[in-house]
Amino acid sequence: MVEIRVLRTDDKRDDFRSGDIELDRFFQKFAGQNQFRLHIGTTYVAVRETEIVGFATVSATSITIEDLPISIKRRMPNYPLPALRLARLAVAEAAQGQGVGKQLLKAVFQIAHEMADRTGCVAVVADAKPDAVEFYKRFGFQPFEAVVGALADRPPPTPMLLPIGSIPRVT
Ligand SMILES: CC(C)(COP(=O)(O)OP(=O)(O)OC[C@H]1O[C@@H](n2cnc3c(N)ncnc32)[C@H](O)[C@@H]1OP(=O)(O)O)[C@@H](O)C(=O)NCCC(=O)NCCS
Repeated sequence: MVEIRVLRTDDKRDDFRSGDIELDRFFQKFAGQNQFRLHIGTTYVAVRETEIVGFATVSATSITIEDLPISIKRRMPNYPLPALRLARLAVAEAAQGQGVGKQLLKAVFQIAHEMADRTGCVAVVADAKPDAVEFYKRFGFQPFEAVVGALADRPPPTPMLLPIGSIPRVT
């Protein structure tokens, strides 16, 4: 069984390997300080037994109506709109293909609903690496034009968006 919970200061992160060196380095070196000292993003970890088998990092962001699908755009005001940014997502190589990424994404969806209820949130946005575009599409994300981060990445990521109204609520 996999438990999803917030990263703790004493979590051991050094051995995490997803096969993507940038994501592993982020988790090992920056996820902790970003969360505990700088408060710029919160990381959720997937834990099986005592081992961390995946993580998702989220932060608040804003998008504009130009980023939204046409059906939603019409109802929205023309100023910055609150959204949840899925900044990083990775599953340990040995645990890939077992539903861990899906479980992390579902936890992120519930955070988006909580944010919508408490402070406002119109969508979840993610910068998808080329190999992960199809993964995000399976969950309803669609590519959009605006660049929401990770500008230094090569090859460039695909910005993707999922409107809050398309995210099922788990009761
Ligand atoms: C992409 C990643 C997060 C997916 O996590 P995972 O735990 O392997 O995926 P899951 O087992 O939860 O898969 C959920 C569903 O998506 C599908 N899927 C998984 N990876 C996919 C991919 N790269 N492309 C298309 N579909 C994919 C699975 O077949 C599964 O389908 P199903 O529900 O019909 O059975 C993981 O493979 C990973 O960390 N890769 C390396 C780092 C990376 O690319 N991160 C994303 C950065 S934007």
